[in-house]
Amino acid sequence: MSWFLVLSLAPLMFVTGYSLVKYEQAIDNELVQRLRGNAREFESTIEDYEKYLNARRERYKADPMLSFGLLTNAVAQARSRVEGNIPNSSVASLSLFNRDGQLVATVTQDPRGAKDRNLEDASIYLSDAYKKQLDKDADMTVAEAGANKSVDLIAITRLETKTNRNAGYVEEIINLGPQFLENVKKRLGLEIILFNEKGQIIAGSHPDFALYDKRMFSKTVGGAGSETFFDLTVRNEPYGFIVTPVKWGQSTLLVGLGASKQKSKGILRNVNYAFFTMICAIGIIFVMVSIFATRVVVRPVYELVDAIQMMEVKDGPVEIPVTTDTEFGVLTESFNDMSRRIYQTKMELEKKITEVEKAYSDLKDAQTRLVHSAKMVSLGQMVAGIAHELNNPIGFIYSNMSHLRDYSEKLKTIIEAGEQGKEALEKEKQKADYSYIVEDLPRLIASCEDGARRTRDIVIGLRNFSRLEEAKIKRVSLKEGIENTLKLLSGEMKNRIQVHTHFEVVPDVLCYASQLNQVFMNILTNAAQAIDGEGEIWIHLYKDAKNKAVVSIKDSGKGIAKEGLDKIFDPFYTTKSVGQGTGLGLSISYGIVKNHGGDIQVKSDTGKGTEFIISVPIDGPPGALAEANKKA
Ligand SMILES: Nc1ncnc2c1ncn2[C@@H]1O[C@H](COP(=O)(O)OP(=O)(O)OP(=O)(O)O)[C@@H](O)[C@H]1O
Ligand SMILES: [Mg+2]
Repeated sequence: MSWFLVLSLAPLMFVTGYSLVKYEQAIDNELVQRLRGNAREFESTIEDYEKYLNARRERYKADPMLSFGLLTNAVAQARSRVEGNIPNSSVASLSLFNRDGQLVATVTQDPRGAKDRNLEDASIYLSDAYKKQLDKDADMTVAEAGANKSVDLIAITRLETKTNRNAGYVEEIINLGPQFLENVKKRLGLEIILFNEKGQIIAGSHPDFALYDKRMFSKTVGGAGSETFFDLTVRNEPYGFIVTPVKWGQSTLLVGLGASKQKSKGILRNVNYAFFTMICAIGIIFVMVSIFATRVVVRPVYELVDAIQMMEVKDGPVEIPVTTDTEFGVLTESFNDMSRRIYQTKMELEKKITEVEKAYSDLKDAQTRLVHSAKMVSLGQMVAGIAHELNNPIGFIYSNMSHLRDYSEKLKTIIEAGEQGKEALEKEKQKADYSYIVEDLPRLIASCEDGARRTRDIVIGLRNFSRLEEAKIKRVSLKEGIENTLKLLSGEMKNRIQVHTHFEVVPDVLCYASQLNQVFMNILTNAAQAIDGEGEIWIHLYKDAKNKAVVSIKDSGKGIAKEGLDKIFDPFYTTKSVGQGTGLGLSISYGIVKNHGGDIQVKSDTGKGTEFIISVPIDGPPGALAEANKKA
């Protein structure tokens, strides 16, 4: 806010200052113009004086009586010719000199100052320089510093007789003294200072001017011929002076005219006051406007911003009280509205989330049930297969049993007949077909042994497959696991599928044996199911460079179409008819292999066959080895 103030007031102050300077300059200019006019007026006064004296000179020149009187030293007569010219004229004094330049009579305005002198005691002469000049030229006009701080404007005229003889001289003086200066001061309303050609003060209208050192202005005013200006303070009053050269015959007077700046300064001061008052007023208005703006504009905005920052639509929408009906009121109202809508959306979202969560948990339950039923199905299938497998050997053991019972009955009868005599024995042997019994009995026993062995093999295979006693992680031979699985599947594959195995030497693998067996079972079952009629399965077990045991199971089945390849590991993806497959076999297998830190890859050619490559680290999933060592 303060920056705003500074930025707004600074240009205003600059403009004000600039205008004041310009205004002061204008005042000075006006003063100079006025003084110039006055100087010209003064100049014309002096010119008038000159004309006036010239006219009088002509009269003196034309007065033969005057020349004669002077020439003949008739002072009284000469004097009587001129003395009437002095009273009530501008001329202060008139002096008559004889042809030698000696003063003979003086007439002044003041009758007491007028004097006639005898030639003997006369001691005042025109200077030689003046006389020389007057010999050349009859008229001479000069200015001189007069007595009593005044300037004398002097006009000297040489008088001649009719025969051009020098008769004497008339000198008239107009005195620019205190009275004159006082008059000028009154008439023009100005102070006036008269300087000589060197710029030294001779006379002035104000008594204080006499106090200045005579040479004080010589540097400023000197160099006659051009106008100069200076400022001077007289009794605390500021004055502006113009100095103009004014010609008086052969001399040049420097006339200084000064006007008081008091008035204009006063006006300037008033203007200053006006400007500064205006600035202060504007400043105050600014401050008030900013305070008002802070109250009315900024505070509601901050309140709104605070509310937005703190906004937590937990227990209900955020409501900011609407205190004004300005735009901020509208803004606050729309914020409240927005907050209400956010709250409503949040509630709907929460409801949806609860629904989704419930749906998810339902789905999980369904999945668990499905997995369970899938397990039951595959278990059922497996049990059916195994039952079938067991049924054969047990069936023929069972059917052998009736023969064995029959044979043992017959043998018992033969033995009993033998106790009665040889004839009865032979007769009974014949009757019971003893020779056939003897021949068939070992075959029957061998067949029973075979059936019993096959039954035992199946049971051992089942036990090994489930490895129930080995649910913990343990080093096992994958070769054995695959062989056991094959045994369980032999019923399905028998007579239809030729299995080629190639087991390289691979160290025992640290794993959950039953789980890996389930993987082999799933993949081999799929392979068997993919083969329509007769076909082949190739199993290759080896160790790769990364210390992994790799099992490749390849079949000559129908293969998997390209679009199916991406989906086969998805749960419930199946191409089999209902009851045939659940689509979980490969997804479960994938999970098992990944848990073992391994990988399953599949390659397939439709119509030619499919290859699954299962690889698992020999030392089990990460961390398993250390765990196993600890336990051991
Ligand atoms: N060796 C294979 N040859 C051709 N198709 C295969 C092969 N193995 C798997 N499949 C395809 O992958 C699908 C998914 O197999 P998966 O084992 O996951 O389920 P399923 O065999 O259909 O059912 P389940 O294994 O639960 O009885 C199969 O339906 C089949 O289309
Ligand atoms: Mg399957």
